Amino acid sequence: MVAKIAVFASGSGSNFQAIAESIERGELTANIGLVITDKPGAFVVTRAEKMGIPVLELAPKTFESKVAYEEKIIEVLQENNIEWVILAGYMRLVGETLLSAYENRIINIHPSLLPSFPGKDAIGQAMAHGVKITGVTVHFVDAGMDTGKIIAQGTVDVVEDDRAATESSIHKLEHELYTNTLQQLFKN
Ligand code: GRF
Repeated sequence: MVAKIAVFASGSGSNFQAIAESIERGELTANIGLVITDKPGAFVVTRAEKMGIPVLELAPKTFESKVAYEEKIIEVLQENNIEWVILAGYMRLVGETLLSAYENRIINIHPSLLPSFPGKDAIGQAMAHGVKITGVTVHFVDAGMDTGKIIAQGTVDVVEDDRAATESSIHKLEHELYTNTLQQLFKN
């Protein structure tokens, strides 16, 4: 069975691209039915269009409420028979509406060893604390900020005073860990 997924992203979309390329290589058994972004014009849109994957650009502020925004998302997900929602740099808390429609079927990746450094700029937070080791976490999404059940983690050595180098190691690990973890999850 090929898992039918939607990838949600707000920014660059390098994790989206890693997932899509892993599928193309035949490593990850999944089908990306749809990319959804809450930031029309984000770079992920360009990446998805280049790969021929349908994109829906939905600005939350054009809806009368968060519930209405998520109801629209659910409608589109169901029309496309989406089974899993894969968050990849989606910079928005998922609300109860979407959570209850996709219970235990929404996954996120976060650039720290949770529960340390949840929320925005996890890499900056880790470096400001002077930790020597940080990492990446893949987890189920619940109503909290990066608080859901942890599925997989990997570690990265912090390169002192070199954010760019640390960030690049984290992204490299993210791309491997996310695709491998999703493959394990979809197999079961
Ligand atoms: C990643 O670091 C991810 O862990 C976090 O947001 C970033 C998204 O990067 N949630 P990209 O858009 O996939 O390049």
